[in-house]
Amino acid sequence: MSSMYTTFAEQYDTAVQDNIYNAHLERPSLQAIIGDVSECDVIDLGCGSGVYADYLIKGGASKLTCIDYSPEMVEIVKRKFGERISAYAQDASIGLIKEESESADLIISPLMIHYLEDLSVLFNDVARVLKNGGSFAFSTHHPFADFECSLSGNYFERELITEMWDTVGEPLEVRFYRRSLTELIEAITKSGLVVTQVSEGKVSEVVKDMSPERYDYLSKNPNFIFIKCQKLA
Ligand SMILES: C[S@@+](CC[C@H](N)C(=O)[O-])C[C@H]1O[C@@H](n2cnc3c(N)ncnc32)[C@H](O)[C@@H]1O
Repeated sequence: MSSMYTTFAEQYDTAVQDNIYNAHLERPSLQAIIGDVSECDVIDLGCGSGVYADYLIKGGASKLTCIDYSPEMVEIVKRKFGERISAYAQDASIGLIKEESESADLIISPLMIHYLEDLSVLFNDVARVLKNGGSFAFSTHHPFADFECSLSGNYFERELITEMWDTVGEPLEVRFYRRSLTELIEAITKSGLVVTQVSEGKVSEVVKDMSPERYDYLSKNPNFIFIKCQKLA
């Protein structure tokens, strides 16, 4: 796992409060498809430092479970939200092994699934843990955008990409999986979930003032993809 989410977890938390990609592109776009969370039992998978936990608590979620691979991130959400949440560290690639079947109304996973090589174990378990009629809403890198980093040149081949990101103000190595839209959608449909909404995101108007060049680029190029699925009764 990148040190950005462990050693630099506090710096990550500070950075994502008001930056362009998380605060003014990813969050408003995923929140637009999450819908009403009041009285919902919610799981935040890959919760990071809790920016979504804050949103879900303010939205009236009745129960919130935060899960992240990084113990440092879990400590931050516990410190911020105390007894309003339950939180634990676990690798999502093995599924939601601690969660009961048909226990959640909503599972969200903002910007986490590209760290998993194989999506099938997790997506099958998301389907198991959702109540009938419950939803799974997640965001990930847009396959079109990630293909620009491809070394293989084969869009349809899953590929581990290594990049340096300066999200926290200094360059840190990040490794993630690039995959085709076909592979992503197949993981959903094979789990039995049904795609109900897809968005390619919309950068917020405030970015015009933060960086006119970034605003222009992100208005014309997809960076993330946002997918909502449902477990049909
Ligand atoms: C880009 S951050 C997003 C955090 C948060 N969802 C947000 O929007 O601010 C990705 C998060 O996924 C977590 N993560 C990475 N691999 C994971 C895995 N295999 N299982 C669970 N969490 C993982 C990281 O520790 C990190 O907190």
